[in-house]
Amino acid sequence: MNPITPSNRLVGLRESVIREMTRLAIQHNAINLSQGFPDFSPHPEIIAAAHRALDEGFNQYAVTWGVPALREAIQAYLQKWYGLEYDATHQITVTCGVTEAIIAALMGIANAGDEVIIIEPYHENYVAAAVFAGAQPVFVPLVPPHYELDLDRLRAAFSNKTRAILLNTPHNPTGRVFTQQELEGVAALCQEFDAVCVTDEIYDQIIYDGQERGVQRKHIPMATLDGMYERTITVNGLGKTFALTGWRLGYACAPESLSQALRTVHDFTTICAPTPLQHAAVAAFQLPDAYLTQLKKDYTARRARMLGILENAHLRATLPEGTYYVLADFSEWVQVLQGQGIADDFEFAEYMTTQVGVAVVPGSSFYKSADLGKQQIRFAFAKKMETLDAAEERLLRARP
Ligand SMILES: Cc1ncc(COP(=O)(O)O)c(C=O)c1O
Repeated sequence: MNPITPSNRLVGLRESVIREMTRLAIQHNAINLSQGFPDFSPHPEIIAAAHRALDEGFNQYAVTWGVPALREAIQAYLQKWYGLEYDATHQITVTCGVTEAIIAALMGIANAGDEVIIIEPYHENYVAAAVFAGAQPVFVPLVPPHYELDLDRLRAAFSNKTRAILLNTPHNPTGRVFTQQELEGVAALCQEFDAVCVTDEIYDQIIYDGQERGVQRKHIPMATLDGMYERTITVNGLGKTFALTGWRLGYACAPESLSQALRTVHDFTTICAPTPLQHAAVAAFQLPDAYLTQLKKDYTARRARMLGILENAHLRATLPEGTYYVLADFSEWVQVLQGQGIADDFEFAEYMTTQVGVAVVPGSSFYKSADLGKQQIRFAFAKKMETLDAAEERLLRARP
């Protein structure tokens, strides 16, 4: 038999760098500030609800679109926080994480030859989602140092082949929270070119209150903009807000025709998200608002701690307005790099993980365009303070 080769579809896709860094961190006993997951426990009420769901016998397939009580909880959440009206029966679908929701959305709407606009830097899964859908990704970089969206560049990327734009706000890895003006620019182009906006809003509750660069940041869902509800697929999940990344629970909300398209993909790929965890997730949405207030306070403290560590370690950070990530420039470590024969951000991230003992993600892994992000590494700070203390100790020992 001839050697079996992977499908042509996979050409150009590499395995996730972020997840590879976690494996390297485990292998070298490094403090893992690479992959974006909390090292603290979810709220005890949610865990108790999971135990109850198992004991009460919710162990078989759920209704494919999601347990009704969870869809109703999602409906109430979006209504309460953003005034967004989605009908739980036809317009809300529970998926296996945001990752599945985005793949189902793009596979549901894109045809071969269509283009999908992806803003760089991007979450790694986006490119794979476009490729699985048979679409051609078209990249538009944000403008450093503040990672603003250049609407002229964005306009140049749109064409009559554009089927969708994949947006993410608050944005991983830059921490940007896009402004009304930026979002209106995206909305106008979607309408002019008759494109769909698939918007990943998984960090909607992790936003910092400070007057970042003179502007009060606020999460604005794309679907709330004039003329956008009809052409938006709003994607979100429980992983980040409720510290449940391993539960694999996400959701996609859209008008019925778009929902039907993504539901067909969801139906035949995963059947349903894990049933007992869907039942338990209802308890997450029932937590009092104080949970979300405390979440913001805790992340504000973690961000301050992380920024202090980076400053002491001579790593120049870009202030995140939202999310639990920070990009940092490692140029001042050049002397260390020369001594170690390290040529680029990938080798630097490996050095950090294996020699310094703090795992990070190389900046260029968030870009398709050659040379972008090469002076940067990403830190995830959804960690206990003692984890950050330990990371600081290691970084200060190694800093130039
Ligand atoms: C922007 C963004 N979207 C999606 C995901 C993955 O979400 P999920 O775990 O719900 O699939 C992540 C995880 O880090 C992310 O940062």
